[in-house]
Amino acid sequence: MGLLDGKVALVTGGARGMGAAHVRLFLAEGARVVFGDVLDEEGKALAEETGAAYVRHDVTSLEEWRRAVATATDLHGKLDVLVNNAGILKYRRIYDMSPEDFDRVIGVNLRGAWLGIKSVIDPMRAAGRGSIVNISSIEGFVGAEGLSAYSASKFGLRGITKSAARELARFKIRVNSVHPGAINTSMAMDPDMMSEIDADAFVKSMVIKRFAKPVEVSHVVAFLASDRASYCTGSEFTVDGGLLTGAGY
Ligand SMILES: NC(=O)c1ccc[n+]([C@@H]2O[C@H](COP(=O)([O-])OP(=O)(O)OC[C@H]3O[C@@H](n4cnc5c(N)ncnc54)[C@H](O)[C@@H]3O)[C@@H](O)[C@H]2O)c1
Repeated sequence: MGLLDGKVALVTGGARGMGAAHVRLFLAEGARVVFGDVLDEEGKALAEETGAAYVRHDVTSLEEWRRAVATATDLHGKLDVLVNNAGILKYRRIYDMSPEDFDRVIGVNLRGAWLGIKSVIDPMRAAGRGSIVNISSIEGFVGAEGLSAYSASKFGLRGITKSAARELARFKIRVNSVHPGAINTSMAMDPDMMSEIDADAFVKSMVIKRFAKPVEVSHVVAFLASDRASYCTGSEFTVDGGLLTGAGY
C-alpha cells in the first residue's frame, strides 16, 4: 500500500531537480500525478518515462494555472494535492540587481505560488479535502548575500502559507511549507553563486556535511501531502541537514 494511494497531485516545476524527484516518489507511493514546467523537452521526456502527465505551465500565468488544474481534474476527476515547487534564483547583490530581475524572482516564487493556492481552492473543496505544500527554503529564515529577492520570496511564502492555512482549514485543506537547505540540483550549482562562495567552507559548516539528494526532500513533501500529516497545517518543515543550527549561517 502506498502513502499516496488514491491521491491526485499537481507538481509545479516538475521537469527536473527536486520537482522531478517529487513526481517520481509520488508515483511510487500510489498517486496519480500531473506536473507542469516551462521546460517542454525535459517535461515530455519525464512524462514518457514515468507515465505522469506533463502540461506546459508557467506559474506566473493565471490562465496557465487554469489549464494545469483542468488537466488534472479532466484526467483524474479531482485534485487532492498541490506542490508549489517551481522557483528561480538570481544571484545579484542589491546594488547590481535590476528592478526587473527582482520582480521576476518575486513573480515566479511568490506570486506564482499564491496564484496556485487561489487556483486549487475550488477543486479541493469539491474533493472535500486537500494538501498544499509550498517549497520555501532555508533562505525563508535567514538572509544571504546576493539573494535578497530570492530570500524575500521565500520569507513571503511562509506568510502566505500561514494565512492560507487559516483561511482554508474550514474546507479541510492543509497548507504547509518545506525549507530545503543545500540540495544537489542545477539551482544549487548556479554559476554566479558558485563563483562567489567557498564551497568547501560551506560544506564544512554543515552538520550533515554533504548536499542532499532531491528525493530526501521528496519524502517530507510526500508525508505532508498524505493523510499521515492530518494534524499539520500552517507549519514549517526544515530539510537542511542541520545547516540552520549554525551560528555562522
Ligand atoms: N536546490 C536547492 O538547494 C534548494 C534549496 C532550497 C529551496 N529550493 C527550492 O526548491 C524548488 C526546486 O528547485 P530545484 O533546486 O529543483 O531547482 P531547478 O532549477 O532544478 O528546478 C526548478 C524548476 O522550476 C521550473 N520553473 C522555473 N520557472 C518556472 C515558471 N515560471 N513556471 C513553471 N516552472 C518554472 C524550472 O524550469 C525547473 O524545472 C525551488 O522552489 C527552489 O527555490 C532549492
